[in-house]
Amino acid sequence: MRVSARAQRIQPFYVMEMAKTAGAIAREAAGSEHPMVYMNVGEPDFTAPPLVQEAAERAIREGRTQYTQSMGLPELRERISAWYAQRFGVQVPARRIIVTAGASAALHLACLALIDAGDEILMPDPSYPCNRQFVSMAEGRAVMIPSTAAERFQLSAAKVQEAWGAHTRGVMLASPSNPTGTSIHPDELARIQAVVTERGGITLIDEIYLGLSFDGAYSHSALALDDDIISINSFSKYFNMTGWRLGWLVVPDALVPVIEQIAQHLFICASSVSQHAALACFEPASLAEYERRRAEFKARRDWFVPQLNALGLTVPVTPDGAFYAWADCSAACDKLFAGRSEYNSEMQTPGSWEFAFELMKRAHLAVTPGRDFGHADTARYIRFSTANSMAQLHTAIERLRAVLA
Ligand SMILES: Cc1ncc(COP(=O)(O)O)c(C=O)c1O
Repeated sequence: MRVSARAQRIQPFYVMEMAKTAGAIAREAAGSEHPMVYMNVGEPDFTAPPLVQEAAERAIREGRTQYTQSMGLPELRERISAWYAQRFGVQVPARRIIVTAGASAALHLACLALIDAGDEILMPDPSYPCNRQFVSMAEGRAVMIPSTAAERFQLSAAKVQEAWGAHTRGVMLASPSNPTGTSIHPDELARIQAVVTERGGITLIDEIYLGLSFDGAYSHSALALDDDIISINSFSKYFNMTGWRLGWLVVPDALVPVIEQIAQHLFICASSVSQHAALACFEPASLAEYERRRAEFKARRDWFVPQLNALGLTVPVTPDGAFYAWADCSAACDKLFAGRSEYNSEMQTPGSWEFAFELMKRAHLAVTPGRDFGHADTARYIRFSTANSMAQLHTAIERLRAVLA
């Protein structure tokens, strides 16, 4: 069967391929003394707190399961608006908030609304793999700009200016970022926004991990900077609701009816049960629980990152948010693969991909190799997800130590 050129352009999502192998090894290791430790999955190990679960059950029992407005439940949009004011001190009117089926749908809608065939979108390398595909599905082209540790693995105004060409439509950022957990400094963002605005472009920023920010210098929403910035967010990460498929985007007033119309056709609405449940995320007891969990994520980072550094898996920039550690495994690869005949030809210099498989097989430790996140330097890096218990993090470090001894 002939598939579309669009479908053929889509690249594999390697993390999903790794997950399949991890699953197979995990089945073999189940019940053994060394069951698999998962540090490859980018989702919180917590589930929705009790009030949210109860609200979902109530919505189902009371039959509040019909379609909602495409823009989302008005009271949910109001609560998200109030959360911006309370948590980030920024006024975001509910009329500019559109509730979606996760940040994924929000990113898809934004790309469809703003990108024409041949338009180019600048984004840092490394960055979240799906973004390139969203741009491609809108017939645009993602232009990956290698970003360095000195730039916190983010774009800089100077690089945006240099890379801006005749077909450039705008920039796509994520702060804090997946895979690095590092944020863009608000001053640099302001400089980027000035470059973009001067050229009549668009700034899309994914703030899905902003709730899980650990450093006051970075925990500012880009929405404080300019009403024209498009911000994507989600209930998946800070609110611990990945499988509930609920997110939102904030757009300038002029874009609201455009996005609404596309959303009506594509999705009708986000899950009504999830929306009713999400109202309870903003109850004081739920917010207190989310803050307790944020502190737990920070404690894990504080323990785990120095441990990696001590093992020579250097994390060049300490993550200021999210639950990832982006570690340089090149020294560890040299050590692990030295003298191994299958790897001694230059054609097969082993990198993070081989390292990740080796860890899975020998240490029953699943991590994500850099390959998914870009091209520039990603064979050097692996991503650890610290969304796991302290006990599991300790086990992971013990196993890494044994493999690298
Ligand atoms: C940066 C980033 N954006 C978007 C998503 C998708 O999130 P959602 O579950 O809200 O669709 C993810 C998921 O890992 C992510 O890391």
